[in-house]
Amino acid sequence: MRKPYFIAGNWKMNKTKDEAVELARQVVEAVKDGKNRYLVAPSFTNLDAVSSVVKGTNVILGAQNCSTEEAGAHTGEVSVGMLKSVGVQTVILGHSERRHIYGESDEMINKKVRLALANGLDVILCIGELLEEREAGKAEAVCEEQTRKGLKDVSAQDMARVTIAYEPVWAIGTGKTATPDDAQAIHAFVRGVLKSMFGDDVAEKTYIQYGGSMNDGNAADLLAKPDIDGGLIGGAALVAEKFSVIAHVE
Ligand code: 13P
Repeated sequence: MRKPYFIAGNWKMNKTKDEAVELARQVVEAVKDGKNRYLVAPSFTNLDAVSSVVKGTNVILGAQNCSTEEAGAHTGEVSVGMLKSVGVQTVILGHSERRHIYGESDEMINKKVRLALANGLDVILCIGELLEEREAGKAEAVCEEQTRKGLKDVSAQDMARVTIAYEPVWAIGTGKTATPDDAQAIHAFVRGVLKSMFGDDVAEKTYIQYGGSMNDGNAADLLAKPDIDGGLIGGAALVAEKFSVIAHVE
């Protein structure tokens, strides 16, 4: 594990503005003395309000997506410049819900990754296999392809601003967590892919988060593994007390 851990809450399409502000206040209070790195990613409409709450604290503001384009006729899209203007530092890209519900390709995700990095945002790139891919013995191949294509033409220097999140799709929101050993195996494999793409130094320094039913009961065991460097947490991040337990794992 790389330390401090990077503990991130992906709030997905949950919380109205007032609820998001309240949760952000609770998270800020809960982690203010924490030793790890923290991020919350509310929905677009709640970013500005949550930004005011986390400003000047040890909680980073993240967004859940951004457009492939910088500006113009793209109805319904949100640009990196807009995100930056409300205090976003980091954008989550390639989440499995974006890939599988909204049809985002590796090429689109790579375009977003490069655009975000070029505009000074940090990136959390999500990768992970479907259940049928795991059962067919293709988990590593899928993760390798998503990693290579997602990071195509990203420089070794810019990798300092990239975190990978391994989120096996079958473990997301299902209560089925990958066992610490299964997760560790993929994390180590992905680190090997990073090594072949960017060299030892980048591979050693890059954070790889685990996501998929991580919660207050299983986080410590997952985070104890040598290649698991943090968590990208959905459901358990919506309850400040649960997020707080994960946030304080050391
Ligand atoms: P859950 O923690 O709800 O399984 O969600 C994980 C996730 O998709 C975080 O991005």
